[in-house]
Amino acid sequence: MQLHLTEEQQMMKKMVQDFAADRVAAATPHMEATDEFPHELIRSMGELGLMGIPIPENYGGSGMDFTSYITAIHEISKVNPAVGVILSVHTSVGTNPILYFGSEAQKEKYVPKLASGEYVGAFALTEPGAGSDAKAMKTTAVKDGEAYVLNGSKVFITNGGAADTYIVFAKTNPAAGAKGVTAFIVEKDTPGFQVGKKEKKMGLRGSNTTELIFEDARVPEENRLGEEGEGFKIAMANLDAGRIGIAAQSLGIAEGALEAATAYADERKQFGKPIGEQQGVAFKLADMATAVEASRLLTYQAAGLRDHGRTTVKEASMAKLYASKTAVETAIEAVQVFGGYGFTTEYPVERFFRDAKVCEIYEGTNEIQKHVISRELLQD
Ligand code: CAA
Repeated sequence: MQLHLTEEQQMMKKMVQDFAADRVAAATPHMEATDEFPHELIRSMGELGLMGIPIPENYGGSGMDFTSYITAIHEISKVNPAVGVILSVHTSVGTNPILYFGSEAQKEKYVPKLASGEYVGAFALTEPGAGSDAKAMKTTAVKDGEAYVLNGSKVFITNGGAADTYIVFAKTNPAAGAKGVTAFIVEKDTPGFQVGKKEKKMGLRGSNTTELIFEDARVPEENRLGEEGEGFKIAMANLDAGRIGIAAQSLGIAEGALEAATAYADERKQFGKPIGEQQGVAFKLADMATAVEASRLLTYQAAGLRDHGRTTVKEASMAKLYASKTAVETAIEAVQVFGGYGFTTEYPVERFFRDAKVCEIYEGTNEIQKHVISRELLQD
């Protein structure tokens, strides 16, 4: 299906497709073999304007719309979803909170560096005891003169260790629940802040996932993002956009797996004809393609609504829920179409299989997405 992309969006799509086929594909074997963050690739993406696609030009971004940004995550993730999530987290939840909730001084200081790719951004909400129940966080921030002193730890932080700035959420009033949460911009060299254990993951190799540790970390007051007590809303509002990014990443995985399986089904012969002409495989492809199209519609619809200034709480959750489920199911079926070869690293489907699962978990599990969707329905 050809979505009605504008000429500018089409140009972005083509540029990213070429970049992904060339540079992202070339970086992938090293990322897979070493699990190293692709700094060089990210620098190149910055030079092309990909690290600040929806950021206004006056803050050093490309000044394009949200749909163009989603197109980039989608196309990159078709080749390597680990690069897709680096881009999504950097932009949606690593840069946008400063753009939307920062003071003019904070925007001028940080956004151009993030938008150009000179800085990588990260978002630190989750804690060992506060995943789905984000407001149960235990990290505290206590005012001390001109600074806040942060103590606690964060886990599963995408871009951890590779990032220059972290949007960190901590309790300034632990008795006040969600209203006691405050957001901070924490620079990587802040005294008392350190990056902890790097997770060894099932997939997304090359995308860092780390612990963060705060031991009397002194964050200057000027780095408080928004007012005291506004942090939870800042987190939630930015996750709305972030979830569309993860939907686009999931769509990329599903489409990449479908295209690989279709090409293989056309070429692989058993019982004297291509396996794609045999109903067991043909029907799999039909089901996969249908779910991919539905994911595409939900994802681009949510992105389009944002471009029209609409809130997308329900639509973002629906897109993320459906597209991530499709990524997992499509990747499993693609491995099945490839048979024994699908279980080897010779073809990309085993990587898609490993990379897909976390899409149903991060930026809110799919159970949390159902909670958000149903709550929105009942409020309507
Ligand atoms: N936009 C703005 N404000 C919002 C909001 C939204 N979408 N959703 C909630 N809020 C506000 C509410 O209005 C409320 O404020 P008031 O009291 O002033 O009305 C406040 O936030 C508290 O909200 P709730 O009462 O709804 O809080 P809750 O505890 O019932 O539930 C939740 C919230 C939806 C379950 C939430 O905790 C949640 O989304 N959990 C999942 C956490 C998550 O997504 N983590 C992702 C980590 S980042 C990541 O994964 C990145 C990566 O690596 C890829």
